[in-house]
Amino acid sequence: MSALIRKIGPYTTTAIALGGMGLSIEKKPPYEESIEIIHDALDAGCRFIDTAWAYYMSGGEEQHNEKLIREALDTWNGPRDEVLVATKAGHFRNFTDGVPTWDVNGAPEALIQYGKQSAVALGVDSIDLLYFHRPDPKVPYNESIEGMKALYDQGVAKTIGISNASIEQIDIARSILGDAFVAVQNQLSPIYKDTLDTVEYTKKLGLAFLCWSPLGGFRKPKDETKYDIFKEVAAAHGVSYQQVVLAWELAMGDHMFVIPGTHRSQTILDSLKADQLVLSDEELLRLNAGK
Ligand SMILES: NC(=O)c1ccc[n+]([C@@H]2O[C@H](COP(=O)([O-])OP(=O)(O)OC[C@H]3O[C@@H](n4cnc5c(N)ncnc54)[C@H](OP(=O)(O)O)[C@@H]3O)[C@@H](O)[C@H]2O)c1
Repeated sequence: MSALIRKIGPYTTTAIALGGMGLSIEKKPPYEESIEIIHDALDAGCRFIDTAWAYYMSGGEEQHNEKLIREALDTWNGPRDEVLVATKAGHFRNFTDGVPTWDVNGAPEALIQYGKQSAVALGVDSIDLLYFHRPDPKVPYNESIEGMKALYDQGVAKTIGISNASIEQIDIARSILGDAFVAVQNQLSPIYKDTLDTVEYTKKLGLAFLCWSPLGGFRKPKDETKYDIFKEVAAAHGVSYQQVVLAWELAMGDHMFVIPGTHRSQTILDSLKADQLVLSDEELLRLNAGK
């Protein structure tokens, strides 16, 4: 069975990427187990890994996930050159009233420092795809994007993406980055559809769209009723409803990619099968309508 391959900027790679976050933040599995999970995903044909400077536990070792991904790739017996690794700059971990939180720094000089540190942690001269992780309300968006442009101009990143971005921010990125800008990574799942406008906009522009927390995430309780129709369709196909969710997202266009997260080989190996699931037009209409 061959995986679904799609185009993202100058690259072609698997439409299903391994989301690395859960392997490095609160509730992460033991380190050696995480390495095995990544190896299992790669052995199953996954050729796209999503990480970030900020994937570490609040108060813990910074860039934990980037270092984990590097070690997993260094110790994998397969073709390392085939694997596309995307990372993100602009977020860091903090505590608010003792609770682990996410904070942002989108100042251009900070982004340049983060980007260079990511290249070191990943062990590459130039990062395949580097996103601006999240807009910083303290910094005008165009200034942050100028920082990302500097990283591209200096060869720290081969291509640039943006994440958690609106249509207006996509336009700012296009105007500053030109052809270096290849991808938008936004939240999208059955419980979060506010970004559907950016799905359509990226399709029109020929940019890749990557769904983060494509299954609805693992950190907060979710409205399970939103998955009822996905469970019904899954039962008809004899697959997990998670596969139906991912296949529904991939069916939104040839520019669509999904980044399922994982804490176990079993779940990522199941998710990687979603690109083989063919949904009928009628099923897609029902999934779009949510009933
Ligand atoms: N750009 C951003 O700002 C941003 C923000 C958040 C996340 N992300 C990216 O998105 C990735 C995924 O996000 P996420 O982990 O929050 O959410 P997710 O992929 O929506 O959900 C992950 C959860 O779904 C479960 N799961 C995955 N595949 C499954 C399957 N086939 N069957 C049953 N359960 C399955 C996992 O179970 P187990 O725990 O049992 O394995 C895990 O608990 C992250 O790793 C990160 O790369 C980006």
